[in-house]
Amino acid sequence: MKRVKTGILGLDQMLGGGFLSQTANLVEGAPGTGKTTIGMQFIYNGIVQAKESGIVLTFEEFPQQYYRDAAAFGWDFRKLERENKLRIIMSSPEVTKADLENIGGRIEKLSQDIDAKRILVDSLSHFERLSQDPVELRSIVYSFINALKREGMTSVLTRESPALLGEAESIDEDMPFIADSYVLLRYVEIESAIHKALLVLKLRGSNHAKDIRQFTVTNRGIEVQDKFVGREGIMSGSPRSMAEAFRQAFPGPS
Ligand SMILES: Nc1ncnc2c1ncn2[C@@H]1O[C@H](COP(=O)(O)OP(=O)(O)OP(=O)(O)O)[C@@H](O)[C@H]1O
Ligand SMILES: [Mg+2]
Repeated sequence: MKRVKTGILGLDQMLGGGFLSQTANLVEGAPGTGKTTIGMQFIYNGIVQAKESGIVLTFEEFPQQYYRDAAAFGWDFRKLERENKLRIIMSSPEVTKADLENIGGRIEKLSQDIDAKRILVDSLSHFERLSQDPVELRSIVYSFINALKREGMTSVLTRESPALLGEAESIDEDMPFIADSYVLLRYVEIESAIHKALLVLKLRGSNHAKDIRQFTVTNRGIEVQDKFVGREGIMSGSPRSMAEAFRQAFPGPS
């Protein structure tokens, strides 16, 4: 099956090569964990490594913000736009919804203009404000991601999770089920320092790595490192060393 590489080595490895073509991929995490960076890197690497044009659709930040943030990683988004390999558009969830319901809407046109194969939607959380009713919302988001697939695009949808540290978010909700893959970014505290962890919770139709990897944001973008060796409790935000956990679980005679 064709894989759509993010170009982020460790992540592609965890995904068994990359996302599946024409799927919707949810990247969720607390503020500042690196959701937008992963998305921009997916778009940038798509253009320069895979020769696939891309769209960035934003509901909150102005396009200027993306030019600036991308430039900090050495990615020249303005140049790519001039070369018709990239489009950054700001819209409202309402307009986007109406747009995708009509044949020949703006996104369809843009996508055809530059033959876009990838799209970053930053963020789905804004889109989710379209309805308070979970059943209606599910149907709205479902049509939205299907419209993106219909256009032949593989999407990364970012989503904010409120929890910073502590309890893992409950995944007892719709969005992870609607999405084809689900990547979670978390802050974890180890020896009084904050680290970032990444895990792939789901990848429909394919095997994926189940372990939790550390990652950092560098001036080249996201870099995924090794597993957290000898740590447990990462999901709870406060890993203890295995040895310590073992001692607690099996206390010796005192
Ligand atoms: N050039 C850079 N070098 C190193 N770190 C950077 C660089 N640019 C941004 N960062 C850091 O990367 C982190 C992730 O930023 P990013 O905007 O991707 O997060 P986010 O999850 O999208 O946040 P938000 O929820 O606010 O949208 C930030 O903490 C930021 O400080
Ligand atoms: Mg962001």
